[in-house]
Amino acid sequence: MSNDIKYHIGFGREDLGENPPTITLLCGDPERARLIAEEMPEVRLEKGLSTKRGLHSYLAALPDGRRLISATSGMGAPSLSIVVNELFDLGIRTFIRVGTCGSLQPEVRVGSVVISRAALCRQGAASDIAPVEYPAAANPFLTVALVEAAKKLKADWHIGITASVDTFYEGQERTESSANKHLLRRLVGINEEYRHLNILNYEMEAGTLFKMAGVYGFAAGCVCAVIAGRTSSEEVVLEEKRKAEKNAIAVALQAVMEMDTEYLQPKYWR
Ligand code: URA
Repeated sequence: MSNDIKYHIGFGREDLGENPPTITLLCGDPERARLIAEEMPEVRLEKGLSTKRGLHSYLAALPDGRRLISATSGMGAPSLSIVVNELFDLGIRTFIRVGTCGSLQPEVRVGSVVISRAALCRQGAASDIAPVEYPAAANPFLTVALVEAAKKLKADWHIGITASVDTFYEGQERTESSANKHLLRRLVGINEEYRHLNILNYEMEAGTLFKMAGVYGFAAGCVCAVIAGRTSSEEVVLEEKRKAEKNAIAVALQAVMEMDTEYLQPKYWR
């Protein structure tokens, strides 16, 4: 492990001090990474690490003294793959994606949270890392910790399969709100198809994160706030967004505070 500053994320091993963290909460949106580090009552901000390329990241601590990084992955799998690669090289071995998503099932309401147990990975970046057939599976121990946390917080939660795709518009069958009204034939009806495959939600990063976890040997989980109800609309429900995001963050933090980290080591799940 080198002490050099990592090219994309803009910080290095020395910025993490003694007893460096091994856990990262990873958000697509830099504002959510800031929210975790600066506004969640259970988190004490130690310092900002970088704002390079809009990849805002923060070093923070929990009440038990455990340290973590709140980091931005950027939108989509190519950016996430770079950030995760560099954080792994700095010693991060547990990644929890805290994201937002669109629901594909009527019972998964806007405002609830979805914990991904696996992903249908329709993502180009993942194909540079593992074969398309390689499973995109969340870490089972971390996933159970997220469920236990959601139960404890009495969140409106769901667990299931997530569809991770590369585009917000075409790939999630948006036409009314998209500049491109023309969908490729293979994408027409994809939402209905996924609904019948019991896929709960759409998002844009978890599948690649899960495949990287399998290949690199780290633990990965994902909890997403539902901000669009795709059974009835294409729109993001902005009024619900902040509250739903905070619910997803609270679930992730509670899981980190309560989980038995012993079982996150690869020897228990490889
Ligand atoms: N993120 C997505 O990828 N899709 C949505 O509908 C909402 C958030």
